[in-house]
Amino acid sequence: MTVVPESLILMASRFRTERQLRRLSRLPGASGDKVSFAVLGDVEPSRFWIYRKLFNREGVFHDQMHELQAQPLTFTVQLGDMVSKGTRANYEIFLRHLRRAWTGRPYLTVIGNHDRSQPNGKSHSTLYRTLFGRPNYFFDHAGVRFVVLDSSYKRVTRTQLRWLKLALDFPGRKIVFTHMPPVQLSLWGGVGKVHELGGFIGGSREFAEIVSAAKVSRVYMGHVHAFGVQDHGGVRYVLTGGGGSALFPSGNVDSFHHYLTVEITPSAIRERVHSHDGKVFSIPGGLVILPTHDERKRRWWELV
Ligand SMILES: [Fe+2]
Repeated sequence: MTVVPESLILMASRFRTERQLRRLSRLPGASGDKVSFAVLGDVEPSRFWIYRKLFNREGVFHDQMHELQAQPLTFTVQLGDMVSKGTRANYEIFLRHLRRAWTGRPYLTVIGNHDRSQPNGKSHSTLYRTLFGRPNYFFDHAGVRFVVLDSSYKRVTRTQLRWLKLALDFPGRKIVFTHMPPVQLSLWGGVGKVHELGGFIGGSREFAEIVSAAKVSRVYMGHVHAFGVQDHGGVRYVLTGGGGSALFPSGNVDSFHHYLTVEITPSAIRERVHSHDGKVFSIPGGLVILPTHDERKRRWWELV
């Protein structure tokens, strides 16, 4: 049994999903027809000291939080992997950083594999659930349904798929956030037998079919510390994993620290990528397919 100290529960209490959603529902734009929000990818500092020493750039999470909160955005969704491993000590450090960076705008979380008791292999999500609440949830804002789906155990179960179908039974625009890309997209997967490290396998085909049938406008994902876009089954999948976690010297031009800002109106979705080095660019309309995994030369050690 995981015993969570009262002090840690208190630290996390203001960031609990239900409290953040209450905060969001009180904002003036709740009944409007336009919403702007930020999507921030992986921020965990790596559990291997050598990675931390060689590849980490301290302060990127803090910088990006500060920058995005200075903009007129309604809320932020962090796509998971906030800690390197879901231990009490790691959550305590992260919550301290978050409290320093947070300015009061709703901040919602997605659970990542690193937020579990073990990032890979057999694990549980008791600590995340105790601190933040349910890992599968949805909310409506400005006529848009936002669905957060837990793919942190590298699978989506049948029960989750049934729930997802119901959650997407909504007449308006639909947006999905999940930590891992479905593996069959093949853009961000691993190598050979460790292919699954780059995406979730169980339920991935059904997931793609469901979001396609429901005409979901976007699936936002993290897990791989890079940026990428792929259109699949009429749905645009956007990888935004550059929240502050270590970048590896792979030579891939799509590996950079960044966050997204998204504006949704009844007729359009406008997305801008804000890189940590100050560049801002829009995600183009039309069909976008980034290089495949093989072309990107991604290495397995980037995916642990
Ligand atoms: Fe991950």
